[in-house]
Amino acid sequence: RILILDFGSQYSQLIARRVREAGVYCELHPFDVDAALLRDFAPHGIILSGGPESVHQGQSPQADPLVFALGVPVLGICYGMQTMAAALGGRVAAAERREYGYAQVRARGHSRLLHAIEDHDSPEGFGLLDVWMSHGDRVETLPDGFQVIAETDNAPLAGIADETRGFYGLQFHPEVTHTRQGQRMLARFVHEICGCGKRWTPAKIAEETIERVRAQVGEDHVLLGLSGGVDSAVVAALLHQAIGEQLICVFVDNGLLRAGEADQVMATFARHMGVRVVKVDAEERFLARLAGVDDPEQKRKRIGNTFIEVFEQEAARHPEVRWLAQGTIYPDVIESAGARTGKAKVIKSHHNVGGLPERMQLKLLEPLRELFKDEVRKLGLELGLPADMVYRHPFPGPGLGVRILGEVHKDYADRLRLADAIFIEELRRAGLYDQVSQAFAVFLPVRSVGVVGDNRQYAHVIALRAVETIDFMTARWAELPYDFLAQVSHRIVNEVAGISRVVYDVTGKPPGTIEWE
Ligand code: XMP
Repeated sequence: RILILDFGSQYSQLIARRVREAGVYCELHPFDVDAALLRDFAPHGIILSGGPESVHQGQSPQADPLVFALGVPVLGICYGMQTMAAALGGRVAAAERREYGYAQVRARGHSRLLHAIEDHDSPEGFGLLDVWMSHGDRVETLPDGFQVIAETDNAPLAGIADETRGFYGLQFHPEVTHTRQGQRMLARFVHEICGCGKRWTPAKIAEETIERVRAQVGEDHVLLGLSGGVDSAVVAALLHQAIGEQLICVFVDNGLLRAGEADQVMATFARHMGVRVVKVDAEERFLARLAGVDDPEQKRKRIGNTFIEVFEQEAARHPEVRWLAQGTIYPDVIESAGARTGKAKVIKSHHNVGGLPERMQLKLLEPLRELFKDEVRKLGLELGLPADMVYRHPFPGPGLGVRILGEVHKDYADRLRLADAIFIEELRRAGLYDQVSQAFAVFLPVRSVGVVGDNRQYAHVIALRAVETIDFMTARWAELPYDFLAQVSHRIVNEVAGISRVVYDVTGKPPGTIEWE
């Protein structure tokens, strides 16, 4: 297991995902983590992330000296390398030129970290590496025991190592894909230098999680709100394997789901896997609560509260239940730690049932708490869930409620469902579905004039949105082919009554958000 100390780089989570991809368990903690945790975690190696600060400016964040005294290998990346160098007696200063973006690094000598990893062979016998740099400072003087293992023209100390102690520093970012050999470097560090085997596989994750759940809940009954989303689906499959009949799932049809979603959930879980699923048809109740409301945050609140009401009512029928299971995943855990320290700002109040377990006096079961999204997906496949469910685009908790702008009406929802299904069907047919991160239709309650046959039509508008993103925090609009968009537009206007016009959203995030509300 590897411990990653976070100095605030935007890439910290990415380091953790890469290490996990290499089949090694790791956790990401703030740089000033307790010494006790450092010891108890008993890492086989430590990685220090990058960060926005400058080592040579006063109060810069530093790792506990224990990090360098545990006797395990340490890899410092960017700021992580600088703070390591400073902590061990080297000198760091502002570089004359800031370096940002692509750079070519010459790997020197035979370091255990870089040897035989290269993008190009150089006539001088160097390994040349294409890497991603982003720094304003650089290490000027090496700490005792260190030597240079990589250099660029601007950063003569682009990589440093003390092979005896297993301490390595890289000025560039191996965790980003622009550093083409980055994954190999990280794998080299965790496998060969730290000696961690490739034990973190989906099968192993499934086995360990199932055992842990069994030990945790014993003979108790567990309630799970199934939403059709990937996370709760994987929790359901997992708990079903772990505790079978002790699991009761509640699936609330709020009338704001995608086309065919309710049927797919019932078919997969209830009929196919034999999971106990109670379906609650609450469309009317949700729509009644939304009548006359057009403010997005109000809509979110009402949908969230109505969900809690319906869910609590259903739960009251199962007094034997002691646990509430939730599909919390690792980025949620890291993010809410960030929210506690006041770093995160609320742009939209995402559907959140966090207060539910206390109100219902249930214990909280979160079996996916340690997993990243890609791991959750692989685990889902391992547990036998269909690939199209596991690789489905994310869908917001308030569903079509925030994709129908302004007040929600049933006929708007029905039209949107149809338009959305056409868009998704065409994306799949064109092999584009997996190339975009999220795609959907939005219902705009403005009317526009069109002509159908010989008749004037004065009807509503559908906007199509498709984005490419890694973390959903920033996103680019997807450059879908024109002929593809033409086909989707043609079908929507022809097949969905009451739609006279289709537009494509070409706004990035920022400044737009992914959803329209
Ligand atoms: P935004 O619109 O904030 O969306 O750029 C980022 C991601 O979050 C999803 N999203 C939500 N998910 N409840 C959710 O569970 C919400 O209220 C909500 N709003 C947005 C959105 O679909 C995208 O994947």
